[in-house]
Parts: sequence; C-alpha cells; structure tokens
Amino acid sequence: MRRTMVAGNWKMHGTRASVAELIDGLAKQTLPGSVDIAVFPSSLHVGQVVNGLQGASIAVGAQDAAVQADQGALTGEIASSQLVDAGCKLVLVGHSERRLLLGESDEVLNRKFAAVQSAGMTPVLCIGETLEQREAKQTLEVVGQQLGSVIKAFGIQALVNAVVAYEPVWAIGTGLTATPEQAQEVHAAIRAQLAKEDSEVAQGVRLLYGGSVKAANAAELFSMPDIDGGLVGGASLNADEFGAICRAAGN
Ligand code: 13P
Repeated sequence: MRRTMVAGNWKMHGTRASVAELIDGLAKQTLPGSVDIAVFPSSLHVGQVVNGLQGASIAVGAQDAAVQADQGALTGEIASSQLVDAGCKLVLVGHSERRLLLGESDEVLNRKFAAVQSAGMTPVLCIGETLEQREAKQTLEVVGQQLGSVIKAFGIQALVNAVVAYEPVWAIGTGLTATPEQAQEVHAAIRAQLAKEDSEVAQGVRLLYGGSVKAANAAELFSMPDIDGGLVGGASLNADEFGAICRAAGN
C-alpha cells in the first residue's frame, strides 16, 4: 500500500521570526503516524527548520536544486549534496512557478531530477496544465508529456524513488480547486501512463494533488483512489490549517 503524504510548499515566504513561529505551531500539532509529512521552506531557512523540527517526524525538503549534484562553480545555485548536508530529504522539481516564470525546460528539470536522486534525495516532480491548455482539452497531453520527458530520459525505474505532484496551474493560489473528480481523472491517467511501462512501479508511486488544498477540501480530495496526498501552498503557512490537512490525510 502507498503511504499518504502531505507536503507544505512555503514558496518565497518567511522571515526568521515567522519561520520560528510556524515551527512552534507545527511542533504542537497532533500528527497522524500513518502519513509522511514534509515541509519545503526557502533554502535560506532550511537549517533553521531542520533544527527546529528535530524529533517532530516532519521531513524537510528544498524547493529547488542545481543541475549538478556536486559542489562547483555555479553562482547562486545550491548543489544537491549541499542540501543533503543541510538535512534535506526531498526536493521539488519542476514547480509551475519555475517552469512558467523562470522558463525552466524539461531538459533542465531532468538534470535537476537526476542530481537530486544521485545525491540520495527524493524528487517531487510537479506537473500540470495551464487554464488555456485545460480549456483547449490538452490537459492529459501536457501532463503526459511532462512526465514522459523524465521516463524517456531515465527509464521507468527512476520513478521508484520519486513522488509526482499534479498541480493544475489554474488552481494554484487562486482558491479554485480541481474537483475531486477532475483531479482523480488526471491522477488515473498519470498512473496508467506509468503502468504502461511497469505496473508494479505504477502501483507504488505516490501521486499528490496540489492547488488550493485546505482543511475544508482535503478529505474529499484524499478519498479518491489515485490521490495519495497533497502538496499544499498557502494553507501550509498556517500550522493549525496544515495540521488539519495532515489529519484529514490520516483518516
Ligand atoms: P496553493 O495551495 O497556494 O494553491 O499552492 C499550491 C502549490 O503551488 C503547492 O506547490
């Protein structure tokens, strides 16, 4: 059985003071033991969060990693090996804000995906369509191509130690959530795409939904057969709300 996962993407939010407050709030939550929980602070705050969450059964991840695993001359970037050294266990790869606003291509993202894995961390591959693409009925094609790019580059076995997050761009930060049925349809297609390559791998890969997940809609989304948890943005900045989402995933 796949273990449910709830991950909080803090994006470009937080100061040392607000992060300390959030850590305090998270430490006070009653969290279900049956759910893998992770938070992704800005790289600047990774050390503070790793220290602050010691003993809290919450993994810490990074929002991005360099295209190479090892240290080197690459100004402004952070190597996967450095993230491991700082205590990170996972890294987001291909968030739509990086694909669309920073122009990260599948080729660059594939290099990041490989670097993260080669350093021993788990990539959380984010895929999803824009509103325009959904309206043009291109959702499954777009998502299939984004996932297919990784499969083509590294083979299906590369998905064994990876998580896939389906995040429709139109649902991110907009308050518009995909309905459980809309999300399930895409998740089922993603799993079918994986199963075409290897059914065992397909059954094992966790598929998270992201896009305006909150305590009020989490249980319904997580009850769908191919939705194995959530990647939460805005609502993860509130410890009580995030805790409630984690508990919804545990039920
Ligand atoms: P929101 O939950 O704020 O819509 O963000 C989703 C997201 O982008 C998580 O990576």
